[in-house]
Amino acid sequence: MSDIAVFTAIQRLIQGCGSLNQLADEVDRLGSRKIMLVTDPGLVKAGIAERVLNLLQGREIEMFADVEPDPSIETVIVCAERVRASRCDLIIGLGGGSALDTAKCAAVMVNNPGDVEAYLGIDKVVNPGVPKILIPTTAGTGSEVTNVAVLSLKAQHTKKGIVSRHLLADTAILDPELTLGLPAFTTAATGMDALTHAIEAYVSRFAQPLTDDFALKAIRMIGENLRTAVFYGQNIAAREAMLSASLYAGLAFGSAATGMVHGLAMPLGGQFNIAHGIANAVLLPHVMRWNLVAALPRYRDIAIALGEPVEGLSLRAAAERAIAAVESLSRDIGIPVHLDDLDVPRSAMDPLARDGMTNFRQTRPNPRDVTYEGLMDILDRAFLPEA
Ligand SMILES: [Fe+2]
Repeated sequence: MSDIAVFTAIQRLIQGCGSLNQLADEVDRLGSRKIMLVTDPGLVKAGIAERVLNLLQGREIEMFADVEPDPSIETVIVCAERVRASRCDLIIGLGGGSALDTAKCAAVMVNNPGDVEAYLGIDKVVNPGVPKILIPTTAGTGSEVTNVAVLSLKAQHTKKGIVSRHLLADTAILDPELTLGLPAFTTAATGMDALTHAIEAYVSRFAQPLTDDFALKAIRMIGENLRTAVFYGQNIAAREAMLSASLYAGLAFGSAATGMVHGLAMPLGGQFNIAHGIANAVLLPHVMRWNLVAALPRYRDIAIALGEPVEGLSLRAAAERAIAAVESLSRDIGIPVHLDDLDVPRSAMDPLARDGMTNFRQTRPNPRDVTYEGLMDILDRAFLPEA
């Protein structure tokens, strides 16, 4: 673990059932004259976008509702162009990680010249963007509190991130009532994304006391609540716990970073159009198994946070219980087990491992030194054994 700890967080966080009603006050506090609501077609159909528009009646507001899953650079360009042309001075991002990441990127692109590609990587964004309020409607990405946005590079069939303090929201509003309507599959996938954030942050080389506390709390809450949120979607206590867990996981990985689950899930999602949470969930136990030997005590802590009985077990056996706990959670909530189940061919292993090696935001914090051979080993185990 690193000796010098840098923790980054957003300025203002509003949480709780009904907290969406604070939106107008927040808009006024930020002194906006014209607002752009950035969201996706599903939230328009579900009536949630309209709820937001109604809360802001009497104010000048436009809507960009064309965010697709795994948003492309092109979508950010179009969205930023709309913000610029309509002279909006505040962006509200409403949705899952895709809508929030689009909103974050569009907000900075308004005030930064050139191509979006030029800002991929760490701290390349020079100027602050227009202010933004982020409202998550899924419990998983933690995007509302992080300085990261992940975009799809269609031509290269992969995803890459922009990391910048200018991506941090001015305000995040977390209202668990907005997540009540999430289908079971999305609840499962996004919940496993949050669990991956928390586990990767906890074993990260950049972990620090603050991120450790957030990560372990998130792991415990997800272990205790994700099954209920998936199978009893109207259970507001489980929804509230999952939204908080996603927030804590976001606060953890926002400063401690993620590791090779994300490092491989980005090319996997980009090449095969697999939902981010599912790509993570399938890879998670295999990356944990490979990393285990580099951070045994940390994996034992994770096992304990997931409610595994470890008393009397050796350190190694206790650490392995963390993997078993993750596998049984995944199985219970219907996550596919192997990459074969996602129609990924074995021939994809080499390009996935090669791309994974280039993702320095994940290779550097990963607890075990990352090698091409190691990534091939992880991927090999993620497929059904060869006959
Ligand atoms: Fe993620």
